[in-house]
Amino acid sequence: MTDFYESDRALGEYLLFHYGRPGEVLPHAFGPAEALNFPVRCVTECLRPEALPTDARALDLGCAVGRSSFELARWAREVVGVDASKRFIDVADTLRRDGRYAYEYIEEGNLRRPALAEVPATVDRARVRFQPGDALSPDPALGTFDVILLANLLDRLPDPRRCLAQLPALARAGAQLILTSPYTWMEEYTPRELWLGGCLDGTTPRRSFDSLGKLLRPEFELVARRDLPLLIREHARKYQWSVAEATVWRRR
Ligand SMILES: C[S@@+](CC[C@H](N)C(=O)[O-])C[C@H]1O[C@@H](n2cnc3c(N)ncnc32)[C@H](O)[C@@H]1O
Repeated sequence: MTDFYESDRALGEYLLFHYGRPGEVLPHAFGPAEALNFPVRCVTECLRPEALPTDARALDLGCAVGRSSFELARWAREVVGVDASKRFIDVADTLRRDGRYAYEYIEEGNLRRPALAEVPATVDRARVRFQPGDALSPDPALGTFDVILLANLLDRLPDPRRCLAQLPALARAGAQLILTSPYTWMEEYTPRELWLGGCLDGTTPRRSFDSLGKLLRPEFELVARRDLPLLIREHARKYQWSVAEATVWRRR
């Protein structure tokens, strides 16, 4: 991992991405409004809460500043958010403790705008905890889970197969595994030979969705596949509009 996720820029971008009000993220009458609130929609559009036990445990692997973890707490009695960025985890933990965090996001160049990230009052923050950790070798003390979310993590890992190989041991029978990714494979994060897709095996295109199936199918069955757009505001006049693929799997 590069240290991007420890930087001021990443912190402002991700707090705005996770907690920004629609008018802060997209202050125009035009634009892809359906791509707002991605960290919430990873849960609302992919989780089947009616299939969860009453004492469900959820894991948000690569949680960043934690908005999906708080959303999972509406349905799970205990949620653990894990991320390799100590900076993100410290801020997520402050949000858990205080319910709010004052920050700044970039308007133009070095000009910044103050903002306040707030956890919705309807979320029980006491159900959530955050801890630093590596998705390639999760802490064995984490235990097992009924929900595991990996939102846009896989293509930021040095070895995504190794991460996927950890999941069966973390998932209880019947657990819901939610994977989202725009499959933006970059050598900066993942050596080319370890990409799940976006390259050739000889003359055959390797596709991320097919690789996920090959790696997960022995232990998980695919239950849903959908497009999940997202919008990250870099500054007032520059955005990343991506269409992640969400796949939802059930532990056999
Ligand atoms: C593209 S961001 C996605 C964050 C969040 N899930 C979301 O959807 O907004 C990737 C996240 O993965 C974290 N990360 C990168 N490598 C990791 C690793 N080996 N273990 C755990 N987290 C990692 C980064 O710190 C960052 O927060």
